[in-house]
Amino acid sequence: MFDRIVELEINDWAGPFTKENSAQATEALENGQVVYCPNLAFELEEREKRYISTDVADAKSKNIRYDIHTDELGGTVLPPTEQVGLQQLVRRFANKSRELVENLFPDYQGKLTQARTSFRPIEAQGRPASYRKDDTRLHVDAFPSSPTAGKRILRVFTNVNPNGMPRHWRVGESFPQVVDKFISKLPKPNKFAAKLMQITRITRGERTPYDHYMHKLHNAMKADLEYQKFVSQEDVYFPPGSTWIVFSDQVSHAVMSGQFMFEQTFYLSVKDMADEKKSPLRILERAVGRELL
Ligand code: SIN
Ligand code: FE
Repeated sequence: MFDRIVELEINDWAGPFTKENSAQATEALENGQVVYCPNLAFELEEREKRYISTDVADAKSKNIRYDIHTDELGGTVLPPTEQVGLQQLVRRFANKSRELVENLFPDYQGKLTQARTSFRPIEAQGRPASYRKDDTRLHVDAFPSSPTAGKRILRVFTNVNPNGMPRHWRVGESFPQVVDKFISKLPKPNKFAAKLMQITRITRGERTPYDHYMHKLHNAMKADLEYQKFVSQEDVYFPPGSTWIVFSDQVSHAVMSGQFMFEQTFYLSVKDMADEKKSPLRILERAVGRELL
């Protein structure tokens, strides 16, 4: 059986990490396992604790978003004078998580692009959503409007819940198994439709055949309630004070409950992986028998 979770006994975001830890973490990550660090806590400073509250979030957007490149914070209803402290907190997490991945995965050093940072103060359970947006259903991540053109989506999550509540995930089967089950049911990509979506700005840039398959796979998994119920899966509870790292375009995952978490997204080119044969791009290309970029 495929071990979904690999535990890593580290407790420092900056390292230094042993060669063994780095090798084990890289291997697990690229295999599509969850790299789980039970003792890696994002410790809050006293003055930061007031932001661990639902009051900071705008009811519409639910997540606080931060872009480290522009230093812009979004999704909050705090008055501008109050936002500075929250912005500092999210920025501190963004910097810590970058240090972590740059040092823990030496193969990726200098090759990761830091994307959006988020703070998620709203309870994940029972949020109304259309099935496509319902993350309580198992899925692999694919961004419908932002094609990655094959780039990997690497995500760092940390639970900062002050009331002892874990973040409850389900983790499904391996990516090759997911592809096996769904590939024959997915519609073929259409160049004309992809161009049209680009012109009408439904997508930022052109949806590549790779992005097409990832998007359709994401939707097909979520639409299939039998699959959701009966596929081989495991409940995982990430307690406060723990951190986990996944290639979320590869790990079949769902969030069942939990509140107060930070998340940082990075992009990585497939060619910068230790073993690109394990990427969703190459696995899908083997399944359909053609190049997808
Ligand atoms: C997701 O990426 O599906 C959501 C993860 C989470 O909010 O815990
Ligand atoms: Fe997801």
